[in-house]
Amino acid sequence: MEKKFKRTLITTALPYANGPVHIGHLAGVYVPADIYARYLRLKGEDVVMVGGSDEHGVPITIKARKEGVTPQDIVDRYHGIIKESMAGLGISFDVYSRTTSDLHRRTASEFFRRLYDNGQFEQQTSMQPYDEQAGEFLADRYVVGTCPHCGSDRAYGDQCEACGTSLNATDLIDPHSALTSAPVTMKETSHWYLPLNKWEDSLRSWILDGHKEWKSNVYGQCKSWLDLGLQPRAVSRDLNWGVPVPVEGAEGKVLYVWFDAPIGYISNTKEILPDSWEKYWKDPESRIINFIGKDNIVFHCIVFPAMLMAYGDGFQLPDNVPANEFLNLEGDKISTSRNWAVWLHEYLADFPGKQDVLRYVLTANAPETKDNDFTWADFQARNNNELVAILGNFVNRAVVLTGKYFDGCVPQAGALQPIDTELFATISEVKARLEANLDTFHFREALKDAMELARAGNKYLQETEPWKLAKTDMDRVATILSCALQLCANIAIAFEPFLPFMSAKLAAMLGMDRLTWDDLARTDLLPAGRKLGAPELLFEKIDDAAVQAQLDRLARIKEENRINSWKAQPQAPDVDFDTFMKADLRVGTVLECTKVPKADKLLKFLIDDGLEQRTIVSGIAKFYKPEELVGKQVVFIANLPPRKLKGITSQGMILSAENADGSLVVISPSAEVAPGAQVK
Ligand code: MF3
Ligand code: ZN
Repeated sequence: MEKKFKRTLITTALPYANGPVHIGHLAGVYVPADIYARYLRLKGEDVVMVGGSDEHGVPITIKARKEGVTPQDIVDRYHGIIKESMAGLGISFDVYSRTTSDLHRRTASEFFRRLYDNGQFEQQTSMQPYDEQAGEFLADRYVVGTCPHCGSDRAYGDQCEACGTSLNATDLIDPHSALTSAPVTMKETSHWYLPLNKWEDSLRSWILDGHKEWKSNVYGQCKSWLDLGLQPRAVSRDLNWGVPVPVEGAEGKVLYVWFDAPIGYISNTKEILPDSWEKYWKDPESRIINFIGKDNIVFHCIVFPAMLMAYGDGFQLPDNVPANEFLNLEGDKISTSRNWAVWLHEYLADFPGKQDVLRYVLTANAPETKDNDFTWADFQARNNNELVAILGNFVNRAVVLTGKYFDGCVPQAGALQPIDTELFATISEVKARLEANLDTFHFREALKDAMELARAGNKYLQETEPWKLAKTDMDRVATILSCALQLCANIAIAFEPFLPFMSAKLAAMLGMDRLTWDDLARTDLLPAGRKLGAPELLFEKIDDAAVQAQLDRLARIKEENRINSWKAQPQAPDVDFDTFMKADLRVGTVLECTKVPKADKLLKFLIDDGLEQRTIVSGIAKFYKPEELVGKQVVFIANLPPRKLKGITSQGMILSAENADGSLVVISPSAEVAPGAQVK
């Protein structure tokens, strides 16, 4: 039997304030959490949704150092952007706070101190990378060196970005500090560890026996962690950015970011409900739901629960952790550092008034059971073919026809025919399915259910054809439009969790002042005689130019990334001097240059080489117009055996340099020389 709860605390993963939020965050966490929160509120339930920015951690210090500003500057900037853009999309946080707040620092500090006082930590020493010159311990990211796998000399102590291998700082060859370039030494340091092994049995029975209903991706990940066996985990770091470890002699040490961040859920609840926050955390009649992405599962299902058990004092563990998989963008993994993302604040600026379109597409495509892909073509198609053609179209037809035949007033229905009662029966069926899906976090399916209402409405108008009956049977037209408008009112309710902007606009048009879930499937929501507002389009088409502009932006980013990630090829093996000297390199003057028919890469040159004229074929047609090269001097290898290319005998090879993007630039002497001059 479903347990009945009195209230729900919804938590949303705290996004790192080292960049804005993007569609991956939204699809994974904030849109589903918001749908769920709005649904419970519509049902009149007691629900609180908390969120905030995660403002500690090494990446923020790295970004600050790169820009020559303080970490506080960085988090102030992104916290502002994130908070404002989330509100812009209608993510209905009851509180959106931040982990640099005093309240949070105090809460996290007190949490640590209680565990410390109760002997819940083990202190352990270990050897950690150290920069003698800076006098600081180095986070793995601050150690750079040569990758033992691919030889790249720009590998970081946690990962080599050239070959993608995960590393430990100690794996690097010739490790040095990213702060000062000083060679890295290893130095002993001591930290506090939470013995997760001590909580293994409790975690095992709580999750594996007690929560078989969790999503299989979440349950499965927990099971494999537990089956591997848990180890003590360090909860402090040598770093100067974070919540100081509240223990004497711990100068220079802060709480590990993954220790303080989830405590943020508690601080945020306290901030909004200073007097009653404990009810949401400790009353067994309350339940906690954590909305997160899949990379956060271990922290929410293993580490934070162990922290809460160690803390005791009645703190409850989450009732469910509906983690999502990842959303990709146009086939590639979203990446903040590579700018491969659709940023929410940019979307809101580029598509004003289209919040619901993004909410719709991200929900219809939500990565609930597997990674999914966002494409702009799909975005456009879903808007034009679903929101405009199905949902907007149905509502518009109902309202416009009412304007035409009944002066914009809800008509009085007469006796219902079977097709009318069928329509109403559909609403009840959809309501049941919607509830079943929303209650179990199947938001994609739930959105399809809601769309079923609009589809049914279109079908109903198509079959009853009130515009034809208008000549003969106005009583029947009145009944049909009355039924259609009651369906519109139901649509306003059913879509509120998903598309709150559309829903508010529709409700206003229909004169509905309060939406509640209990009213869903009622067929008397709009009284006869009510004057409707002027018909307004709920959605408009998105044209190719808008989509192309987004694709162009992505193409530019891809290009920038390719150029930025370009690195010179490793040096070739040695060649002995005599061998090199055998190559006869000369300068020649281009007399003629023409395209080679049926070969889009090739140009045919006639060269004055100082002795005679020779023909050379070169693969640079993509980068030069033939006439640009006539009269130029080029460098060529004179003593290669002749080769046939497209039926032309090429007597040598013209030298070019290759750019990062693969384009070629012909090599010329920096001043004019006599044709035939040797290159030495
Ligand atoms: N900042 C983390 C991330 O983006 C999420 C933190 S969730 C919290 O992956 F529980 F720690 F708050
Ligand atoms: Zn490598």
